[in-house]
Amino acid sequence: MTSTTAIPLADPALAERLTDRLALVEERLRDAVAHADALADTASRHLVNAGGKRLRPMLTLLTAELGDGARREVLDAAVVVELTHLATLYHDDVMDSAPLRRGAPSAHEVWGNSVAILTGDLLFARASSTVAGLGPEAVRIQSATFERLCLGQLHETVGPRPDEDPVEHYLQVLADKTASLIATSARLGAMFAGCPPHVVATVTAFGERIGVAFQLADDVIDLTSDGSVTGKTPGTDLREGVPTMPALLLRARAAGPDATDEDHAALALLDADLSGDEALAAAVAALAEHPVVELTRQRAVALAHAAAAELAPLPDGPVKDALVAFADLLVDRAS
Ligand code: IPE
Ligand code: IPE
Ligand code: MG
Ligand code: MG
Repeated sequence: MTSTTAIPLADPALAERLTDRLALVEERLRDAVAHADALADTASRHLVNAGGKRLRPMLTLLTAELGDGARREVLDAAVVVELTHLATLYHDDVMDSAPLRRGAPSAHEVWGNSVAILTGDLLFARASSTVAGLGPEAVRIQSATFERLCLGQLHETVGPRPDEDPVEHYLQVLADKTASLIATSARLGAMFAGCPPHVVATVTAFGERIGVAFQLADDVIDLTSDGSVTGKTPGTDLREGVPTMPALLLRARAAGPDATDEDHAALALLDADLSGDEALAAAVAALAEHPVVELTRQRAVALAHAAAAELAPLPDGPVKDALVAFADLLVDRAS
């Protein structure tokens, strides 16, 4: 799915501009991952070719519509955010031992961990080279974003300190590992389309909120969506012991005074040895049916609505409507 038809756009002229520019981004992405070295070339193309939703470049192109969206720098920015995202996917799948990504075997399954990690680094090098053409401010934004991404993944890996609330810690992890790049996608689009600073700040705040909402929705999808739809293996996070919002909410309930037998039973399945497929399927099913999943979904929807409210200072019109539709799409998706 690489088409803007994913966002319900009421304005046909806007839809056409976005579709055309997204096609250009696609061409540029393929050029950006090309290597003379055969292995570097094949491994770098692997995930670009496998597809993906291209949500981040779409957001860059969309916020750029608040200014002059036809500028060359806007396309460069859209390429940079997808390349950065791609780099993180190679690394994330190693850390999460994820077998599938975008419906294809993940890079470490094909070439091993070292090649997967180095391919992520190669993609990041190409993102850096493109962002260099956008000037020092863009380079600083890109490096601050990548720093937050790494810190988010690091804090997810080590978990909360004893004095930290696990849910608050987790929300900060989501903001850093996911919302940072989504906020930057929105920011660079408006910035390079020549929008005034208050517009750039508004869409950045919007991106930060939809980014957290998006990752909460991802936690729900990991439990409730079919692998053939997501292109990922359900329950990957549970198997690796990576905390997700439904699992954290379940733990909090099971430890509280109102814990039910259902809470304890679901937690026992979650804490079992999940290396076998049957045990994992039982844990996924128990959690998927538990009310904590609906609570997580509601949190995601509330955040998406809060994000839409952030857009109040922008003029009403098709671009603002499209940004609201984009926020809704991020939390109301199956893949
Ligand atoms: C997956 O992002 C990684 C997360 C931050 C949840 P996407 O769901 O945007 O993945 P693709 O790009 O469509 O494959
Ligand atoms: C991915 O987070 C975040 C980054 C790639 C930085 P997850 O590990 O939760 O995402 P999926 O489910 O593998 O896409
Ligand atoms: Mg993962
Ligand atoms: Mg992960």
